[in-house]
Amino acid sequence: MSTLIEVGTTRLPDVRWDANVELRKARMKDVEPIYTLIKYWAERGLMLVRSHNHLYENLRDFFVLEDEDGHIVGSGALHILWHDIAEVRGLAVHPERQGQGLGRWLALAAEREAKDLGIPQIFAWTLQVRFFTGLGYHVTTRENLPPKVYQECSQCPFYDNCREIGVTKVLDPDNAFRK
Ligand SMILES: CC(C)(COP(=O)(O)OP(=O)(O)OC[C@H]1O[C@@H](n2cnc3c(N)ncnc32)[C@H](O)[C@@H]1OP(=O)(O)O)[C@@H](O)C(=O)NCCC(=O)NCCS
Repeated sequence: MSTLIEVGTTRLPDVRWDANVELRKARMKDVEPIYTLIKYWAERGLMLVRSHNHLYENLRDFFVLEDEDGHIVGSGALHILWHDIAEVRGLAVHPERQGQGLGRWLALAAEREAKDLGIPQIFAWTLQVRFFTGLGYHVTTRENLPPKVYQECSQCPFYDNCREIGVTKVLDPDNAFRK
């Protein structure tokens, strides 16, 4: 696991750890299990549901965790919005694999990819604030995020009743977004 949190490498995460879970970029065959996993948490009000169309179009954003039986037990994505900001989204861990460090691993994979791409700031909309603050994110106000981060809000079913909180982590202070 320690190899993953190293920064400054362009190698995409593709490692195994002692729980026999492999972290890798998503492939087309992963769309259905990613869809099912996100839908599971969306139905419990914790995430936005993502359509197959969305997953196909954004497949290259996604990481997955695959267990030794070939089951997808986690997903996460880094979605670039602008030259100076990317969104960590689609973070979901299988209900039976909660609390084993898998969510942290996925979030760090997205963070490392942002660093490798030279993106100075990442953010997420979330209800799991403490998960993110434990990874060095800070709660932010909507005004302190660039307008680009709202681009999908108009399509969201919770547009008029949004409970999600913005959390952000600056990776490169000299080039991060400033109001
Ligand atoms: C949020 C989620 C991805 C975390 O994944 P996980 O594998 O269970 O979390 P980890 O085991 O990696 O936990 C990492 C740390 O965050 C903490 N943590 C995890 N979930 C937390 C939560 N909901 N609230 C507070 N702390 C949390 C853990 O205690 C752990 O802290 P530690 O390192 O001090 O022990 C997972 O619970 C999940 O799939 N939730 C449902 C979907 C969801 O809400 N996704 C987030 C959308 S933005």
